[in-house]
Amino acid sequence: MRYHPSVLVKEVVESLRPRAGGIYADCTCGSAGHAIALLEACPGARVVGIERDKDMAATARQRVLDLQIPSDRFALVEGSYRHLRSLLRDLAIAQLDGSLFDLGASALHFISSGRGFSFRSPDEFLDMRYDVSQGATAADLLAEMSEVDLERLFRDCADERWARRIARRIVEERARAPIRTAGQLASLIERAIPRKAWPPETHPATRCFMALRIRVNREFEEIEAGIPQAIDLLKPGGRIAIITFHSGEDRIVKRLLREAAGQGEGNFITGRRPAPRIKILTRKPLTPTEDEIARTAGARSAKLRVAEKLGPAA
Ligand SMILES: C[S@@+](CC[C@H](N)C(=O)[O-])C[C@H]1O[C@@H](n2cnc3c(N)ncnc32)[C@H](O)[C@@H]1O
Repeated sequence: MRYHPSVLVKEVVESLRPRAGGIYADCTCGSAGHAIALLEACPGARVVGIERDKDMAATARQRVLDLQIPSDRFALVEGSYRHLRSLLRDLAIAQLDGSLFDLGASALHFISSGRGFSFRSPDEFLDMRYDVSQGATAADLLAEMSEVDLERLFRDCADERWARRIARRIVEERARAPIRTAGQLASLIERAIPRKAWPPETHPATRCFMALRIRVNREFEEIEAGIPQAIDLLKPGGRIAIITFHSGEDRIVKRLLREAAGQGEGNFITGRRPAPRIKILTRKPLTPTEDEIARTAGARSAKLRVAEKLGPAA
């Protein structure tokens, strides 16, 4: 079986410092690479994995089973971390010793999901949902969104310089025939961006595919809803570790951590800031070594931010 190549594993384990008796939430369990590393680092620790994609959850469950990790040490919950508090309440867990978010899609989504996440699988239907039981597909959005909204999505979510031309091309093409496959979308983006302006190292459709995936899965809204809950649920001294892969999500994470650390904008009338609830431990985010970047495709843009919950008297 293939698994997602986990990034910054040593750094995550060292940051969360799993201890015997501690309970840790892996809020983006994927194929459980980080969850297993935490379990192996401390035989007395327990991990709750949360995963929104049922196929991915099945992969994680099987992997943990194959390693004969006892079922009282690992629980897998199918659902979104947007509902973290209530998912944990169902397991009678009121507080956490640590939380991990490894944001975005898994490599398995691109390689083997069959859901149109990648321009490298031209025949796949443009679904792009992690949870296929709800919400609009990427093909639905390409059919329904206005030209202005498409332009804004590509520009704001993915810093796509050619957002306007791509949005216009989508609207022109869909008037002739619905855009249903990854190949159709990739090829219209290739035609919308002048050949000499194609990025040297990535496919010209990379940014737009990412922006669509973010919009389909409401990823920014999920982050805004999930991270504050994870911070609330931490015990004093408990830690949160968050891995981001692009500037859009990193900006949100940085702001949420700063707000919780009492460094946000403050009340817009009084200017007063709420009392700090966490201490940020990574003034600059941790990043992969050159070695890891050489070994793991996709590690290059990873950034790990870590914070610690303050005690009640802080
Ligand atoms: C980068 S992968 C995680 C890989 C994992 N850390 C590992 O080592 O195998 C991110 C995973 O988070 C899942 N995911 C995305 N949004 C989610 C959400 N709101 N709630 C739960 N899981 C989510 C995706 O389906 C994907 O499998």
